[in-house]
Amino acid sequence: MCTLAIEQQPTAAIPPAEQTTMRAAVFVAPGRLEVRDVPRPVAGPGDAIIRVTLTTICGTDVHILKGEYPVRPGLVIGHEPVGVVVELGEGVTGYSIGDRVLVGAITPCGQCIACLSGHLSQCGHGEGYEALGGWRFGNTIDGSQAEYLRVPNAQANLARIPDELHDEQVVLLADIASTGISGAESGRVRPGDSVVVFAQGPIGLCATAGARLMGAAFVIGIDGDETRLAMARRMGADVVLDYRTTDVVAEVRRLTGGGADVAIEALGTQETFESCLRSLRPGGVLSSLGVYSGKLTMPYDAIGAGLSDVEIVTTLCPGGKERMRRLMALVQHGRLDLTPLLTHRFPLERIADAYELFASRRDGVLKIAVTP
Ligand SMILES: NC(=O)c1ccc[n+]([C@@H]2O[C@H](COP(=O)([O-])OP(=O)(O)OC[C@H]3O[C@@H](n4cnc5c(N)ncnc54)[C@H](O)[C@@H]3O)[C@@H](O)[C@H]2O)c1
Ligand SMILES: [Zn+2]
Ligand SMILES: [Zn+2]
Repeated sequence: MCTLAIEQQPTAAIPPAEQTTMRAAVFVAPGRLEVRDVPRPVAGPGDAIIRVTLTTICGTDVHILKGEYPVRPGLVIGHEPVGVVVELGEGVTGYSIGDRVLVGAITPCGQCIACLSGHLSQCGHGEGYEALGGWRFGNTIDGSQAEYLRVPNAQANLARIPDELHDEQVVLLADIASTGISGAESGRVRPGDSVVVFAQGPIGLCATAGARLMGAAFVIGIDGDETRLAMARRMGADVVLDYRTTDVVAEVRRLTGGGADVAIEALGTQETFESCLRSLRPGGVLSSLGVYSGKLTMPYDAIGAGLSDVEIVTTLCPGGKERMRRLMALVQHGRLDLTPLLTHRFPLERIADAYELFASRRDGVLKIAVTP
C-alpha cells in the first residue's frame, strides 16, 4: 500500500493562451506524488501540445509510485491521454488547433527500423530497436496526468476522435483495451476457438472482450474477485471461475474437452503462467501480457517435455494513430463498450486519493477517470 503526500499549490490565474505553467501529478520519490505547478510544455519540431481533457491511472503507475518501476524524480506520470490540440510543431501536417485526439500509451516514431518492421512498441526513435522504447509517456518523458502534454512524433500519434464519441468512451483504448485485445490477436484466436483468460483486472477484462471480438466461441474468465468475475461476464466470458475455490486447470480442461486453444496470461505470476500452460491443448498458444519479476520457470511436464508444440508469445501494448483509429472504430460501430470499467471519477487535484483507491481495489474500483 502506498502512503501518499499531496502538496496543494494555488493555480495560476492567467489566461490559457499565456499560461507558462500547468498543474501536473509529479513523481517525487517512492510513495510520494505531488500535484504541482510545472512549466507548460512547448512544441518542438514534429511535436504537438494537447490540453488533456481526460486521463486515467494504470496499474503500472502504481508500480512507479511504489518505486517498483524506477523513473526519474520530477517526472509527470500517466500514459492514457485524451485531449484537444492547442499547438502544432513544425512539420506536423493535416491537423488543426482544436482537433479532439486520442493518443496511445505507446508513441512509436513510425520511422525507425523497429517501427518499419512492424514492432512499433519496441521503437528505437529513429535508430534500430529499443526494448520497450515505444513507451515514453510517464516513463522517459512527461506524461498525461497534467493539464497539457507534449506528444512526440505527433504525425504518427494523434488519432482524431469521431465527433459522436465522448472522452469516456475512448480513454481506455489508449492502454488497457489496446493491450488486452492484443492478447487475443497475438494468440491468433480464430473463429470457434476456446479461450481462457487468467486474471480479470482491467487488462484481463479487455482480453476477454478481445477474445470475443476475434471470434472465440467459448471464453472462460478466471479471477478471485466477485465484482471482477461479474464484469468478466459482461465483457463476454461464457463461464467464470474463481481460482480460490476451484481447481481451475482441471475445470478448464474439462470444459474445453482437453484444453483451450488459447490461454491469455493477464497477471504476471509464475502461478498463472504455469496454469496457462497446463490449461492449453497440445499445439495451443499461450499469449502473455503480464509483467513478471524475478525468474519465470517452465516445468517440463507442462510442455510435454518440450514436445507439445505449444507457442508462447508476449506483447507490449500496441500504439500509434492507426491502432487508435481501429479501436475507436470498434466503439463507434457498437462492437466494444468499455465505459462500465470506468467506475470512479476524480479531478486532477485529488489524484493522490484516486491512486490510493485504485491501489486498494476497494469499492469495486476498476478504472478511474481523472479530469485535469
Ligand atoms: N503487456 C502490456 O503492454 C501491459 C500493459 C499494462 C499492464 N500490463 C500488466 O498486465 C498485468 C495485469 O494488469 P491489471 O491492471 O489488469 O492488473 P490488476 O492488478 O488490476 O488485476 C489483477 C487481477 O488478478 C487477479 N488475480 C490474482 N491472483 C490471481 C490468480 N492466481 N488467478 C487469477 N486471477 C488472479 C486479481 O483478483 C485481480 O483482479 C500486470 O502485470 C500489468 O503490469 C501489461
Ligand atoms: Zn499502462
Ligand atoms: Zn520507431
